[in-house]
Amino acid sequence: MNPRSIFIILFIAILAVLSSNQFRNVPLLILEYVNDHVTLEMLSSNVIFPSLISFVDYGYFRFYHHHHHHHDDKKRKIVSICDDFPPDFPPPDTNTTSILCVDRNGCCNFTTVQAAVDAVGVLSQKRTIIWINNGIYFEKVIIPKTKPNITFQGQGYTSTAIVWNDTANSSHGTFYSGSVQVFAANFIAKNISFMNMAPIPSPGAMGAQAVAIRIAGDQAAFWGCGFFGAQDTLHDDRGRHYFKECYIQGSIDFVFGNGKSFYENCQLTSIASPVAIGARVINGAVTAHGRTSKDENSGFAFVNCSLGGTGRIWLGRAWRPFSTVVFAYTSMSDIIASEGWNDFNDPSRDQTVFYGEYNCTGSGANTTLRVPYAQKLNDTQAIPFLNISFIDGDQWLQPYI
Ligand SMILES: *[C@@H]1O[C@H](CO)[C@@H](O)[C@H](O)[C@H]1NC(C)=O
Ligand SMILES: *[C@@H]1O[C@H](CO)[C@@H](O)[C@H](O)[C@H]1NC(C)=O
Ligand SMILES: *[C@@H]1O[C@H](CO)[C@@H](O)[C@H](O)[C@H]1NC(C)=O
Ligand SMILES: *[C@@H]1O[C@H](CO)[C@@H](O)[C@H](O)[C@H]1NC(C)=O
Ligand SMILES: *[C@@H]1O[C@H](CO)[C@@H](O)[C@H](O)[C@H]1NC(C)=O
Ligand SMILES: *[C@@H]1O[C@H](CO)[C@@H](O)[C@H](O)[C@H]1NC(C)=O
Ligand SMILES: *[C@@H]1O[C@H](CO)[C@@H](O)[C@H](O)[C@H]1NC(C)=O
Ligand SMILES: *[C@@H]1O[C@H](CO)[C@@H](O)[C@H](O)[C@H]1NC(C)=O
Ligand SMILES: *[C@@H]1O[C@H](CO)[C@@H](O)[C@H](O)[C@H]1NC(C)=O
Ligand SMILES: *[C@@H]1O[C@H](CO)[C@@H](O)[C@H](O)[C@H]1NC(C)=O
Ligand SMILES: *[C@@H]1O[C@H](CO)[C@@H](O)[C@H](O)[C@H]1NC(C)=O
Repeated sequence: MNPRSIFIILFIAILAVLSSNQFRNVPLLILEYVNDHVTLEMLSSNVIFPSLISFVDYGYFRFYHHHHHHHDDKKRKIVSICDDFPPDFPPPDTNTTSILCVDRNGCCNFTTVQAAVDAVGVLSQKRTIIWINNGIYFEKVIIPKTKPNITFQGQGYTSTAIVWNDTANSSHGTFYSGSVQVFAANFIAKNISFMNMAPIPSPGAMGAQAVAIRIAGDQAAFWGCGFFGAQDTLHDDRGRHYFKECYIQGSIDFVFGNGKSFYENCQLTSIASPVAIGARVINGAVTAHGRTSKDENSGFAFVNCSLGGTGRIWLGRAWRPFSTVVFAYTSMSDIIASEGWNDFNDPSRDQTVFYGEYNCTGSGANTTLRVPYAQKLNDTQAIPFLNISFIDGDQWLQPYI
């Protein structure tokens, strides 16, 4: 084994320990070891979740690191943990908004996100902002249908994350594997990440799908959020959804579901295994949209996004017969397979899917060798997919505050 694989195993083991202890009883010895022996380079070379470095940096470790030289006074560190925390936070409720605060170290109302969700009143017409401090929250979170109008406000998608590791096998189906599952309407998330850190499936593995978030409520909006996983990262299940300036990572079908969604200025990163130049293998897909019939109006629109990373992947697979996906003004690296799209081995779907490309750039956007059913949209055809009217955003999407 090379040092990097040893490191990755060690790091996963450490995370496992941390997760089972919620960071609170982690032996200082392990933290000390990580601080002294794990360099930024080692963490950033971790092919699995490069961005974990930031979480570690902003979480417990940063705190610990700042006090690294006070070896003689471990108690003081614990006592001082809330010193920087504003004493008058959260502010009192207003007529229209309440704020609940989550901090892993116990510096405000709740130490878990789920506890804050549980404290929100049933069918509250007020918006509840759940303010979540920096750190990794190792928990599975469910927002039931009875809790509309919740906002998750993180401190940055590289420093605040909700992380769990269920798989299709461990949760009785892909649909239940999400680290976070949103069934309520009017959900908003800002500057936070959703992550499933189950192992990346080996080729042909069964039951290893691992969803980071399932969004099954109508009128949801995500601003500056991160979605980290491998197979089936973002379950854009149903309803109208908006994503702006989000980072979405995965390998196979990493944006999937039957939602009607508008993705604007997002960065989509494939972590499928690198493919040798000249090899004909295709080992991933960005989307697997699940529209079943022409009577539905769901679809995914990606505008001004960027597609990159590793592997050789399709833009989309026809998970259901009327799968509908459009990429516009999007830059695509050479990881995009030249045929572009795949009919899920069902040629009858070639007649019913709607796969469009409009004004995209980069070597992956060359449409010369695309499958015949892929459409190069003209201006008129593209218009419905190019702004938030696609999701009726003018009726419900609130401006970013
Ligand atoms: C999730 O991680 C925990 C802690 O490492 C482990 O015990 C559990 O088996 C993992 N679950 C799955 C489904 O891999
Ligand atoms: C909010 O509540 C205050 C009293 O607490 C009241 O004076 C004010 O009119 C209310 N505003 C709205 C918009 O309902
Ligand atoms: C949250 O903390 C604030 C400040 O301590 C307090 O006023 C408020 O009642 C708490 N809210 C809940 C739901 O515990
Ligand atoms: C709260 O949710 C309900 C039902 O989804 C919605 O009608 C209402 O406009 C929402 N209120 C706010 C303040 O977002
Ligand atoms: C979200 O993060 C961005 C970039 O770090 C920052 O500019 C913005 O103010 C943050 N907004 C909120 C609401 O957290
Ligand atoms: C999921 O379960 C099936 C049946 O028990 C098994 O064959 C498969 O290896 C499991 N997959 C993973 C990733 O553990
Ligand atoms: C396109 O996306 C990039 C990167 O997110 C952003 O800097 C740029 O302003 C966007 N352009 C438009 C027209 O929104
Ligand atoms: C592409 O974009 C340019 C400028 O943004 C526009 O003039 C043109 O009509 C668009 N459509 C096509 C199919 O090139
Ligand atoms: C597009 O791909 C075709 C076929 O591989 C190639 O002949 C052509 O030069 C490419 N066009 C551009 C602009 O790269
Ligand atoms: C765009 O394509 C549609 C469908 O093929 C066609 O009916 C329409 O005439 C085209 N419009 C333009 C401006 O080329
Ligand atoms: C979206 O674009 C259409 C066609 O250009 C336009 O009529 C509509 O007003 C735009 N909607 C928004 C919310 O900008």
